[in-house]
Amino acid sequence: MKKTAIIYSFNTKKTGKVAERIREVFGDDQVEMVNAEDLSEEVFMSYDRIIMGVATWFDGELPNFWDEFVPALEDLDLSGKKIALFGLGDQKGYPENFLDGVGIMAKILEEQGATLVGFTSVEGYEFESSLAQREDRFAGLAIDYENQGSMNKERVSAWVEQLKKEFA
Ligand SMILES: Cc1cc2nc3c(=O)[nH]c(=O)nc-3n(C[C@H](O)[C@H](O)[C@H](O)COP(=O)(O)O)c2cc1C
Repeated sequence: MKKTAIIYSFNTKKTGKVAERIREVFGDDQVEMVNAEDLSEEVFMSYDRIIMGVATWFDGELPNFWDEFVPALEDLDLSGKKIALFGLGDQKGYPENFLDGVGIMAKILEEQGATLVGFTSVEGYEFESSLAQREDRFAGLAIDYENQGSMNKERVSAWVEQLKKEFA
C-alpha cells in the first residue's frame, strides 16, 4: 500500500514541529513528508491517505501559501480519499476564530468528496467560536502551542493511534 502523506508547509515552525512528531509516532517508513508550498494536483492525487497541517492566521483565515493550491483543490474529485487535518491555533489570543483554518479546509475537502477522519473532542479547550467545531468535536486535531504546549506530545500520540484505525 502507498504511504500516507503528511502535507504541510516546510517553512512553518510550529506546524512543522507537529508534523515531525506525527511522523515519529506514525513510523518513519509509513509516511512521506510533502511540502504544501510546492504541491501539484498529481502529487496530491497520488495518495489515498493524507494528513494535512493547517494553521490559522490573519484572524480566522488560512495561511496565504494555501492560496495557490486551494483553487486547484476545488477542481479535484476526492472521493475515496481519507484525509485527517491537524491545526495550530491560539485559543486565548483568538478565541473567536480558534482553529478556523481547519474548518475552512475541512469544508473544501468535504465538498470535493473526501472522507474526513481524525475528529477529536473539544473538551479541554476554552474558546468562543471555531469554524472547526462540529457539535462537540473538532474536524481534526487541535494543537495550541501558545497556551497548551505541554499537551502536544500526548495529543499527537493519541491522535496517531486513532488515525491508524481510521485509515485502515
Ligand atoms: C497574526 C496572527 C494571526 C493569528 N490568527 C489566529 C486565529 O485567527 N485563530 C487561531 O486559532 N490562531 C491564530 N493565530 C495563532 C497561530 O495559528 C499559532 O501561533 C500557530 O501556532 C502558528 O503556527 P505556524 O508557526 O506553524 O504558522 C494567529 C497568529 C498570528 C501571528
